[in-house]
Amino acid sequence: MTLQIIVGTQWGDEGKGRIVDWFAANSDFVARYNGGDNAGHSVTVGPKLFKLHLIPSGIIHPKPVAVLGNGMVINPQSLLAEIDMLQKSGVDVNPRRLRISYGAHLITPAHQAIDKALEAARGKGNIGTTGRGIGPAYTDKATRRGLRVQNMLSADFMEKLNTHIDEANQQLHMLGAAYINPSEVMDDFKRYREFMLPYIADTSLELHEAIIAGQYILAEGAQGTLLDIDHGTYPFVTSSATVATGVFTGLGIGMTAANNARVTGVCKAFQTRVGSGPFPTEVFDDLALRLRGTGSNPWDEYGTTTGRARRVGWLDGVLLRYAVRINGLTELVITKLDILSGFETLKLCIGYRQNQEIFNDVPFGPSNLESYEPVYEELPGWAEDVSAIRHWADLPTAAKTYLEAISRLTGVPVRLVSVGAEREQVVSIQ
Ligand code: IMO
Ligand code: MG
Repeated sequence: MTLQIIVGTQWGDEGKGRIVDWFAANSDFVARYNGGDNAGHSVTVGPKLFKLHLIPSGIIHPKPVAVLGNGMVINPQSLLAEIDMLQKSGVDVNPRRLRISYGAHLITPAHQAIDKALEAARGKGNIGTTGRGIGPAYTDKATRRGLRVQNMLSADFMEKLNTHIDEANQQLHMLGAAYINPSEVMDDFKRYREFMLPYIADTSLELHEAIIAGQYILAEGAQGTLLDIDHGTYPFVTSSATVATGVFTGLGIGMTAANNARVTGVCKAFQTRVGSGPFPTEVFDDLALRLRGTGSNPWDEYGTTTGRARRVGWLDGVLLRYAVRINGLTELVITKLDILSGFETLKLCIGYRQNQEIFNDVPFGPSNLESYEPVYEELPGWAEDVSAIRHWADLPTAAKTYLEAISRLTGVPVRLVSVGAEREQVVSIQ
């Protein structure tokens, strides 16, 4: 196998980081293809909790080379902070192990300021972005005035940066927001540039050569299918291609790499969402608190990037089936099964009802879900703590029934189930 794509099937926060960590030990490359530091990928290794936003989770293993692909938007300040954090934790990060595509775009403080000002202007109808400047950076990319990592290699980079801040200040003025001080940004970026130069690479070519050599490439998606700019719950989405096909443009690799690719969809055993937008299976009050947790545990449902409490609900099988279709999933990984221990019954959404009509699929995609009511199948719960279980045979019968129901509903096998935050807390099903 050459290419394995790890993609979120929901609204992000599915546990992609820890699943990438599971596969990464034997991989040659781990490559991010979309998004920026809006992502929050957590990996627990013994007493250490790594919270990664930009660098692929695979970096924690000694073998793989980490790639930040051209489809990404990179905030150099976050990048330097993350490299520093990793090095302090004893992870080896150097220009041989971390390769940054020349084609990725840069995020500046101006993008962050515009992101926040646009959200404030939207008022009640806001998207609930992470405020990291993701949308404005991709806007500049699409309108062909963005700053690319490649620009850092040219003598006129500072000039280009200055022009960018100027233009951004005009926009900030129109939005009634405070100006950005260009000289402060320029000073910081001189430092960032110096630091980043040795990491800049032609990652498309390097990955191409790796594919020809039959090496194992793990592509790490950020966000999830339902946050995809085209296929998500538009406009309550992020600004990049989060879906599996985003790998090809976001890393600059050809379609033939898709032959025999393993496309692994990561799905939480229930549903969560942070930020605004439709959520048909959302639950509230006591039930929500049980699924979310109180926040005392770092794995409770509070955002890794923003600390916001996540909205929670029952697993939406209709949207999961949609994710299987859009991504061409070959297998599923179910995370956080341990959180469902102790429920008397579990609900699994198997269809949508509108007036008297039942839908098994999302009509016209998931962007107008408000008018649908979920149709649930009720399944028995289990009382046992499953966190110490490592084999399928040892799972409670009701847990197996739940997982089998997911497989049946989606037509895709469940290959891996996580039952706790620790690296080894996984049930592998062959
Ligand atoms: P990981 O990789 C969950 C959400 C934001 C908001 C919308 C747009 O950890 O799964 P943006 O800042 O991207 O313009 O915000 O997308 N969002 C995420 N939600 N997990 C993420 O990443 C997310 N990245 C963005 O909350 O609703
Ligand atoms: Mg997250």
